[in-house]
Amino acid sequence: MIPTLQHTASALLFAAVMVSAQSATSSSAAPSASSSSTSSGILAQSSPSWLPSFSAPSGVNSGYPTGAIDTGATLDKTQLNSTAYPDPWSPATTDHSEITAVMNSLDWTKVPDAPPNKAASDGSVTFGNYDESKDPYCWWSDTNCVKPKVDYLPEDVSYCPTAGDWGLNYDDGPYNPSDDDTELNAYAEPVLYNFLAANNNQKATLFYIGSNVVTYPAAAKRAINDGHILCVHTWSHPAMTTQTNIQVVAEFYWTLRAIKEATGVTPKCWRPPYGDVDDRVRAIAWQMGMTTMIWDEDSNDWNMPGDGGGNLPWDTVNGYFEGWVDARKNGSDTQHGHIVLEHELNNATVKMTEKWLPTLQQTFNVKSIHDCMGITQPYWETQWVYPANASGNSTSHANTTTTTTTAPSASNGSPSSAAASSSDHPGTAAAAGDSATPASSASSLTTSTALGLAMLAATAFFSS
Ligand SMILES: *[C@@H]1O[C@H](CO)[C@@H](O)[C@H](O)[C@H]1NC(C)=O
Ligand SMILES: *[C@@H]1O[C@H](CO)[C@@H](O)[C@H](O)[C@H]1NC(C)=O
Ligand SMILES: *[C@@H]1O[C@H](CO)[C@@H](O)[C@H](O)[C@H]1NC(C)=O
Ligand SMILES: *[C@@H]1O[C@H](CO)[C@@H](O)[C@H](O)[C@H]1NC(C)=O
Ligand SMILES: *[C@@H]1O[C@H](CO)[C@@H](O)[C@H](O)[C@H]1NC(C)=O
Ligand SMILES: *[C@@H]1O[C@H](CO)[C@@H](O)[C@H](O)[C@H]1NC(C)=O
Ligand SMILES: [Zn+2]
Repeated sequence: MIPTLQHTASALLFAAVMVSAQSATSSSAAPSASSSSTSSGILAQSSPSWLPSFSAPSGVNSGYPTGAIDTGATLDKTQLNSTAYPDPWSPATTDHSEITAVMNSLDWTKVPDAPPNKAASDGSVTFGNYDESKDPYCWWSDTNCVKPKVDYLPEDVSYCPTAGDWGLNYDDGPYNPSDDDTELNAYAEPVLYNFLAANNNQKATLFYIGSNVVTYPAAAKRAINDGHILCVHTWSHPAMTTQTNIQVVAEFYWTLRAIKEATGVTPKCWRPPYGDVDDRVRAIAWQMGMTTMIWDEDSNDWNMPGDGGGNLPWDTVNGYFEGWVDARKNGSDTQHGHIVLEHELNNATVKMTEKWLPTLQQTFNVKSIHDCMGITQPYWETQWVYPANASGNSTSHANTTTTTTTAPSASNGSPSSAAASSSDHPGTAAAAGDSATPASSASSLTTSTALGLAMLAATAFFSS
């Protein structure tokens, strides 16, 4: 069965607390692979060799869709064979031969020895005596750092380089129908995907939770058949810097495996829940084939009232969107494009997209993150080639008086400079959802407000 979000929140809270208690026992395997680096000095990646060779899934394209898109209102509810997988929404299982195989394939000399961070009793990360001014591990939760301190990892993707671009993205999907609140099923997938299809065949980058993929693989199939790009958002949505090395591997592994089994692709991108990433976690992600993708603006949509949400008023989130549109229209937003964090989490987040997408399409060049970064091969399966300018160009009326920032670097599409919008760090990355960076300085939640909201609504812990 699909656990309710409330169950999920307790499970995650429990998991985070447990992690805190065990964090001294960080595991690591003996280095067994030597790594090579590219001419840029960035560690070379190779196609993951440790995933099972699944037979091609049924009902999935084998490349970018060229024909008509299925916009049927219902999807098959069959789950993946769950035998191998951890229980959905439980911490990712580490005691498994497939995890051992991944551990043995990584070069641990190229994983910084950062101690796993501590989780507070509410599940949030605590900053302890981390040296924030030196920021030795480029810990985003504390400093919004996106440029690793080690020279063999690329900078995170955090904004679209071209002014006027809006890199559309949704976290926490696929949004499963609920067993116990059937009214909300009017917003579960494929509702958002059909809405995107109906609006200029809009494409988006989707950060998927492995637990949600095994319980609703048909939604993942629909998304990829619609031309969206699938990325990893972990198995059980923990604050990743609180996880030991083997737990980090397992959170990635089971999600990659679920996406591969459901859709046949192996993503090269991931997003940390709550933005909680440091160089240790980045290094493991990179060696498992994935680039880290953050954001430069945050809608805080996850925190609106709704299943798994919080207490942030609809009008506040609405106001953020108004501000972004106004700024673009009045000529004050010309530095670079944006990656605005949004979610497919509940009725409220889907409604907010339904309200704003048409306006965004008239104001910005709305496209997937990959499209705005010029990344056309988002998977290790190289027959998948996404077109540049895959969407958003036929109805776009974006202001063309733009300036552009430095082009993304060729090797990985990372922008050359960071755009973290706030030096404020949240007191609580986990409790504040993925939303550690305030959406705008004018209307941001304070740290204590975010924490208070999270505590008021236990379910807020889940969201991101
Ligand atoms: C499910 O997977 C397990 C092993 O992962 C396998 O032994 C079993 O036969 C599978 N069940 C079905 C119905 O395919
Ligand atoms: C443009 O709009 C933004 C967002 O509403 C506002 O903060 C800014 O002051 C405006 N700038 C001008 C020049 O009107
Ligand atoms: C585009 O931006 C310029 C300032 O850069 C402004 O003068 C103009 O009114 C804007 N046009 C539209 C259609 O928003
Ligand atoms: C979403 O559903 C919840 C019930 O779970 C309800 O309280 C809330 O008002 C709804 N939000 C919107 C924007 O419809
Ligand atoms: C993509 O669209 C932009 C304008 O939106 C255009 O300048 C650019 O040349 C296009 N690139 C390709 C590869 O079509
Ligand atoms: C975008 O523009 C290009 C060039 O004009 C065109 O070939 C392509 O079909 C357009 N894409 C969409 C989704 O309209
Ligand atoms: Zn999330």
